Amino acid sequence: MDKLSILKQKKQEALKGGGEKRIDAQHNKGKLSARERVQLLMDEGSFEEIGMLVRHRSHDFGMEKEVYSGDGVVTGFGTVNGRLTYVFSQDFTVFGGSLSETQAEKIVKILELAMQNGAPVIGLNDSGGARIQEGVVSLGGYADIFYRNVKASGVVPQISAIMGPCAGGAVYSPALTDFILMVENTSYMFVTGPNVLKTVTHENVTSEELGGAHTHATKSGVTHFACANEVECIEHIKKLLSFMPQNCEEDAPCYEYTTTDEHRPGLNNIIPENPNQPYDIKEVIAEITDSDSFLEVQREYAENIVVGFARLGGRSIGIVANQPTYLAGVLDNNSSIKSARFVRFCDAFNIPLLVIVDVPGFLPGTDQEWNGIIINGAKLLYALSEATVPKITVITRKAYGGAYDVMNSKHIGADLNFAWPSAEIAVLGAKGAAEIIFKKEISEAADPAAKLKEKEAEYVEKFANPYSAAARGFIDEVIEPSETRMKLLKGFKMLENKVAHMPKRKHSNMPL
Ligand code: HXC
Repeated sequence: MDKLSILKQKKQEALKGGGEKRIDAQHNKGKLSARERVQLLMDEGSFEEIGMLVRHRSHDFGMEKEVYSGDGVVTGFGTVNGRLTYVFSQDFTVFGGSLSETQAEKIVKILELAMQNGAPVIGLNDSGGARIQEGVVSLGGYADIFYRNVKASGVVPQISAIMGPCAGGAVYSPALTDFILMVENTSYMFVTGPNVLKTVTHENVTSEELGGAHTHATKSGVTHFACANEVECIEHIKKLLSFMPQNCEEDAPCYEYTTTDEHRPGLNNIIPENPNQPYDIKEVIAEITDSDSFLEVQREYAENIVVGFARLGGRSIGIVANQPTYLAGVLDNNSSIKSARFVRFCDAFNIPLLVIVDVPGFLPGTDQEWNGIIINGAKLLYALSEATVPKITVITRKAYGGAYDVMNSKHIGADLNFAWPSAEIAVLGAKGAAEIIFKKEISEAADPAAKLKEKEAEYVEKFANPYSAAARGFIDEVIEPSETRMKLLKGFKMLENKVAHMPKRKHSNMPL
């Protein structure tokens, strides 16, 4: 056979992966093949494969007889919406996509290239874990990948999609990346699977219950997006990328925007008369941001805080907002952890932050205290204090107690702090405050209930408004809600070239 024919034959073999039968089996499970996924992700004709002819070096357990070019992972580069992107896509049709020494080397090469050339890397995971026939060599390969994930963290965006099994130590590569997407019913992630659980803890659970997309979207918060199918998952990856810069040295892409009437009169009527009545903060977000631009992250987890990306005048921003419709928008363990991690991503990749505040405080209770609300609440406080990107706050209603400080107050480095006239900035709610500080007066009154009402009103008059804070400069401006979008457009524009220097240190010591 001439040299060109040998090359053509080898490439043909690689394209088949583990064979048509196994690709059919993938399709029957509702899964695409590794190459089909890459084709969906990358702009048409842009994908260039690297390492197509790599083969494993294993000789034990008859492995020398089963050799597939590519060795269970498709790696390469191309463009997504015109921007350079690296990808690795595990091929379940080859030894269940299991990670061999050579597969690890291919993934490491992609991660190194992504770091050196400053472009995002997408991992499409579908694997039975460590290649059992290779033993410790495979475990070493995982660690080589983990090490690169950590080195790349904060340098280039890293996104992991789980499109099949992802078990044991294999979960730690996605966990080290910035975002995890999962596909409902066809993917799962766990450190220890159902069979081991049955023996060790006597629990009876299915893979889906233990580590499916729904579980990780609602219970653990491990996944940021639970997608109905693989096509939706890949569309989400593309959308997510559109909000991000290529690397930590660049700004996110700016989309064309023509200024029109930026008033949003609907916002003037959004806060209910009764301060204890909830309203949906997502309606506020929708009014403030460019139409249909909001991409919510971890939508079904810790719903008392809403986080996500949006555009304002065509530019990416990250939003953190208390949600009054869920637990009255309190801060608790899960919401603090969720929002802190999101803030750190935005800060690492130069995405300005908008914090919308309506928070009655931290959730009280033994469950919260025993599960570390002290340390977890500190995570959000730390992340926002540490962030040097432009930071703007809008207080729509309550900003009580320590939560006032935490939610991007002026004191922790916010650049602009706005409040609506409905804002209540105080140590605690008027009723609770009156009960404590006027306790004696109330108990000695002829009509204690009337006295409490009177004192409550006195407290409201003094503190349950934004004006004491504005008088001290803690609030830069009290604005009409309808003007919010316009104020934010101007504010973020003014902060566009913000430069902030941090003290010299090796690295900070975030409360983890
Ligand atoms: C080698 C593997 C493999 C593996 C699957 N295969 N996993 N080969 N190493 N880890 C092969 C199977 O032998 C089979 O080959 C083909 O892939 C498809 O697997 P099936 O079992 O037929 O598929 P399915 O029924 O869909 O089940 C998928 C599965 C199961 C649930 C992932 O294969 C499985 O339990 N595999 C082992 C998982 C595991 O214990 N991995 C090690 C975990 S420890 P043939 O030729 O028969 O088609 C780990 C540590 C990482 O990963 C530590 C990092 C620090």
